[in-house]
Amino acid sequence: MATVVVFGGTGYTGGNVVREATARGHRVVSVSRSEPQDPVAGVLYETGTVEQVAGRVIPGADAVVAALSPRGDMAGRLVDTYRDLARQSAAAGARYLQVGGYSSLRPAPGAPRFVEGDIPEQFRDEALEGEATRVLLAEEGPEALDWVFVSPAAAYGAWAAGERTGRYRVGEDVALVDEEGGSTISGGDFAAAIVDEIENPTRHRAHMSVAY
Ligand SMILES: NC(=O)c1ccc[n+]([C@@H]2O[C@H](COP(=O)([O-])OP(=O)(O)OC[C@H]3O[C@@H](n4cnc5c(N)ncnc54)[C@H](OP(=O)(O)O)[C@@H]3O)[C@@H](O)[C@H]2O)c1
Repeated sequence: MATVVVFGGTGYTGGNVVREATARGHRVVSVSRSEPQDPVAGVLYETGTVEQVAGRVIPGADAVVAALSPRGDMAGRLVDTYRDLARQSAAAGARYLQVGGYSSLRPAPGAPRFVEGDIPEQFRDEALEGEATRVLLAEEGPEALDWVFVSPAAAYGAWAAGERTGRYRVGEDVALVDEEGGSTISGGDFAAAIVDEIENPTRHRAHMSVAY
């Protein structure tokens, strides 16, 4: 059993990771500013900002999952917040899995990342900030930190929750395309991939994509 601390554990991504890790018998701590609307039995919910809570929950963690979103009053604040989480995770010897976006992937090996091309305006700010959090790990990730930057498929999010099938594929920094030419992953399967990676590490200081 591992101790898994999920920042954003009441959100879409974090909530699924909390449910998945708890169902598998891990000790799970969720951090968010608001109380959970639908608490999961057995989870320790810590209510407060990252700044208020991180210092008391990261020491003792085996894995830290960072699943905040750069929306609302967090827009423009994710890089600094994640720099701090990365530093504290390194100091605690915890594995660090940071969730980012599809746009940080490449369409083909060696090709520019999607975020370097035209991104529809409604996604642009979030895509750029997500990419900045990837660069943070790649260029400034503390040497002692065992990090993974996890990108979901294009069709991922609360608007496309889907079903947990237990089936998914993982890749590196190139987007995976399914048999129908689509890029999709359900919330449950994305969370399963993250918890599988916590239980059986396959990547270290690397970018991981998850899709069908
Ligand atoms: N296809 C794609 O590329 C795609 C699609 C969706 C999401 N994503 C990415 O996945 C990540 C997670 O997104 P999501 O949609 O799952 O997020 P979300 O549903 O908006 O959840 C965010 C979580 O973070 C918590 N939070 C926010 N600021 C906080 C703070 N300062 N201190 C403590 N907790 C805080 C929120 O709770 P409180 O507000 O109560 O604090 C909530 O639990 C993001 O990086 C997003 O860009 C990518």
